[in-house]
This record gives sequence, C-alpha cells and structure tokens, in this order.
Amino acid sequence: MAMQNVQSVPAELSPEALESAAQLVAEAQADFDRVMAEDSRVEPRDWMPEAYRKTLLRQISQHAHSEIIGMQPEANWISRAPSLKRKAILMAKVQDEAGHGLYLYSAAETLGQTRDKMMADLIAGKARYSSIFNYPALTWADMGAIGWLVDGAAICNQVPLCRASYGPYGRAMVRVCKEESFHQRQGFEILLELANGTPEQKAMAQDAVDRWYAPSLMMFGPPDDDSPNSKQSMAWNIKRFSNDELRSRFVGMMVEQVKVLGLTLPDDQIRFNEDAKKWEHSPLDWNEFQEVLAGRGPCNAQRLERRRQAHDDGAWVREAASAYAAKQKEQAA
Ligand code: 3HC
Repeated sequence: MAMQNVQSVPAELSPEALESAAQLVAEAQADFDRVMAEDSRVEPRDWMPEAYRKTLLRQISQHAHSEIIGMQPEANWISRAPSLKRKAILMAKVQDEAGHGLYLYSAAETLGQTRDKMMADLIAGKARYSSIFNYPALTWADMGAIGWLVDGAAICNQVPLCRASYGPYGRAMVRVCKEESFHQRQGFEILLELANGTPEQKAMAQDAVDRWYAPSLMMFGPPDDDSPNSKQSMAWNIKRFSNDELRSRFVGMMVEQVKVLGLTLPDDQIRFNEDAKKWEHSPLDWNEFQEVLAGRGPCNAQRLERRRQAHDDGAWVREAASAYAAKQKEQAA
C-alpha cells in the first residue's frame, strides 16, 4: 500500500524517477487524507506528513516527560504517609506514573526519536512538561488534592486521546486512563476522610483544594484563542476537543463532586451558561502560567535538578543492561 512505501525520496534521481516518486507521495497523501476523513488510524509503518509526525512527537514526548516529572511531588510524601496502607497505595500510584512514562516514550520512539534524545532534551531544560508539576506538595492533604484535581483533569483531557488517530498513542491512553481513574478515586477518598476528620484536618483539605484548583485548570493549556496547535491537532483527529471545552467540562464535574466532599472550590463565579451550554469560571492568571512555562515556577529548578540526579544515579543500570544485551547478542551469534 502506498502509505507504507514512501517515507523518503532519495536526492539524486532521474526526472522519470522523480515524477514517479512524486506520484507515490501524492498517493500516500491521498491515503492519509482518506484515513483522516474516515476517522481511522495511522500506524507506525504508514506514511504520514512530516508535520503530523512532528506534532505527535511534540505532544507524546511532553506527555511522557509530564508523567515522570509528575512522580516527584508525590514520591516526596511516600515516607511520610500516615499509615502503611496509605504508603502502599501511594507507592503503587507513583509506580503507575513511571509505567505511563514508559508506554509514552515507547509510543514516541515509533515516530523515529530515541529515548536518549528525549531524555537529554528534558534534562537540558529544552523540553516541556506539564505546568502542574512545578507546584509544591506541602501537606498530606495535597496527596488528596493532586489525586482528585490533577488526576481528574488528566482523565478529562486524556479519555478523548484514547481515540487519537495515531494507533500507539491511542492504545497507550486506554491503559493510562484506567489507572488514572483509580488515582483519582484514591485522591477523592483521602480528601473525604480528611474533610470528615478533625476541624484541623478539614482545614488542611480545604487549603490543598484552594491551592491546586487554578493550576489544575491551567493543565488544559492556554485559552483557545492563544492555542497555536489546537486547530491542526483537531483536524488530524489527535485532539478531539479544544482546551477551553475540556476545561469547562472539568469545572462542571468538580463543582458537583466538591459538594460530596463537604468542601468548596475557591471560585465564586462558577455557573452553567444555559445559552452556551457550558460551565464558566473566574478568569485564570495566564501570566503565572507563562512564568511556569518559562521555567520560573515555584519548583521548576528543583524538579529538573532531581531528574538530572536520578538520571545520573541510574547510569549504572543502563550500562549493565547494555552489557547484558551485548552478551546475549554475542551468545546468539
Ligand atoms: N503545561 C506545559 N505546557 C503547556 C501546557 C501545560 N499545562 N499547556 C499547553 N502547553 C504548551 C504546549 O505544549 C505548547 O507548547 P509547544 O508548542 O512548545 O509544544 C504551548 O503551550 C501552546 O499550547 P497549545 O494548546 O497550542 O498546545 P497543544 O495543542 O499541544 O495542547 C495540551 C496542550 C492540551 C497539554 C496537549 O498537548 C495534550 O493534551 N497533551 C497530552 C496530555 C498531557 O500531556 N498532559 C500532561 C499532564 S500528564 C499528567 O497529568 C500525568 C498524571 O499522572 C497526572
């Protein structure tokens, strides 16, 4: 099939060969357009426009980085969890996030980028990861607020990505979303227990919700008018909804769930707009968002430094694994 045979055209070709190559590319593009129109899937060996490949690589690698940097705020609380049960649950959750990173790095590798390069870019501070993980986790209640709000926002954003047009990404998202659902419930349950505890525990839960609410809303990305990538990503069936649409949907979910918790959201402007059929909220501080993206958030430097250290500490594991693989290859030869 044309889509599978035309990844690149060699430079020095006769006019006839060039013409036939151009025809193959045109056929491959037509095949790709048909796949998009049918809302079907593109697989790694299929031909794809270079811009589509780059967009996917950008989004999937950023997503992978977010998962592994996202381990840090919670790993910080494993040794201080209030009971053995809470410790075991939190450890499992943090391990899940590492697993999500691995599925996503693997999906990104199918687009022709090595994991080493992606990791080098992250460590050098050249790659993006989600703004949310540059905020500090100050109390145990933050484990609840991160699970409920941050993982809740992640699910809201990622369930539609299960239908992303690129096969490896969509399939990875199915498993990620199942695990994120468990993460959100455990966060909700931590907050529920604190909210029904002593007045101090309830105040701690409310304080955590107050601090994580706005940054969670910013996870969905800039407002639609300031989102340079959304339109094309939606045309390519990667994103299914705009940043503002998902943010509004998330606010609607949270405004109901917070009542069950007996807490409040720090936003007195939440209302359902009957005409527009969407939830509205108070304006967010997009300057703060831009500062965080520029590396000047409360924990950016700390997060990257920790990742560098972890990468250095893991050097011996990578060396041992390479030596083992070389030995296996030698024995098989
Ligand atoms: N944090 C950091 N950067 C962000 C961002 C955020 N919250 N939101 C947007 N950006 C960046 C974009 O990456 C883009 O930068 P780039 O052009 O240099 O790549 C720029 O801001 C403009 O934003 P756009 O809206 O045009 O970008 P996208 O169309 O890519 O939309 C997105 C942004 C909605 C985050 C989309 O990329 C997406 O859905 N990504 C997949 C999900 C994801 O990465 N989630 C991160 C959280 S992971 C997580 O939550 C783990 C869990 O354990 C909690």
